[in-house]
Amino acid sequence: MDPLPPRLHRDVVSFVRRSTRMNESQMKAWERYEKAFVVDVPRGDMSTSIADDARVDWVAAFGREAPLIVEIGSGAGDSLAPMAEGRPDANVVAFEVFEPAVASTLGRLGRHGIGNVRVVVADGAQGLAKLFDDGSVSELWTFFADPWHKKRHHKRRLVGTDFADAVVAKLAPGGLWRLATDWEDYALWMREHLDGFAGLENVHGGWAPRLAERPVTKYERKGLEAGRVVFDLTYRRVDAPQD
Ligand SMILES: C[S@@+](CC[C@H](N)C(=O)[O-])C[C@H]1O[C@@H](n2cnc3c(N)ncnc32)[C@H](O)[C@@H]1O
Repeated sequence: MDPLPPRLHRDVVSFVRRSTRMNESQMKAWERYEKAFVVDVPRGDMSTSIADDARVDWVAAFGREAPLIVEIGSGAGDSLAPMAEGRPDANVVAFEVFEPAVASTLGRLGRHGIGNVRVVVADGAQGLAKLFDDGSVSELWTFFADPWHKKRHHKRRLVGTDFADAVVAKLAPGGLWRLATDWEDYALWMREHLDGFAGLENVHGGWAPRLAERPVTKYERKGLEAGRVVFDLTYRRVDAPQD
């Protein structure tokens, strides 16, 4: 008998495991700030997966109750740090699997004294589904998610209908999902899968204007230098139409 609903089996993950070697400043940042910012969660069968019964008390983890923002794939924290700093009234939970990038994030958070962020070093697709109560997330950020160009890799794309099911479940009514990508085919794929998805509304009816608080990150700069256009999207959690 299969004890889990099928969509919680995520053998296909949206990231590549890379070397976890850190440079000296990353190692120092990790040692100095891990305790302050990293939230440990019980693991599943992979080092990046999360146990099905894992729970986090976010009020205790932040030491206060506040609206929850989640970022998945925060990289080196280029967007996370300034955007969280600009939202001091929110508790921001970032998921990133690449430890050297997490270490850079910790250094940045520590140096700037940004206290409203906690980082989970694990698969954020699982994290969103397992670590948050339904309807408890006020905003979700997925910026420059890995594009997985080849058709046979499309199943690894973070943005898709399985993930959208979890987003709809976890976002609070009226909550926002903000996305950005510099890959047109992935941007179109997002529209194809999310426009008209039950429980989501495309706030701008098409592409969103660039989010003013979102800084230009390394990934965005690379895309722009290569002549690509950056696409922003914003979806709102709405009641699904009744049959
Ligand atoms: C192309 S980078 C973009 C980083 C960042 N959002 C930015 O704009 O600078 C994508 C990042 O997402 C991370 N990632 C991909 N899938 C993830 C997942 N399911 N959970 C956590 N991190 C993930 C990768 O490790 C990588 O660091």
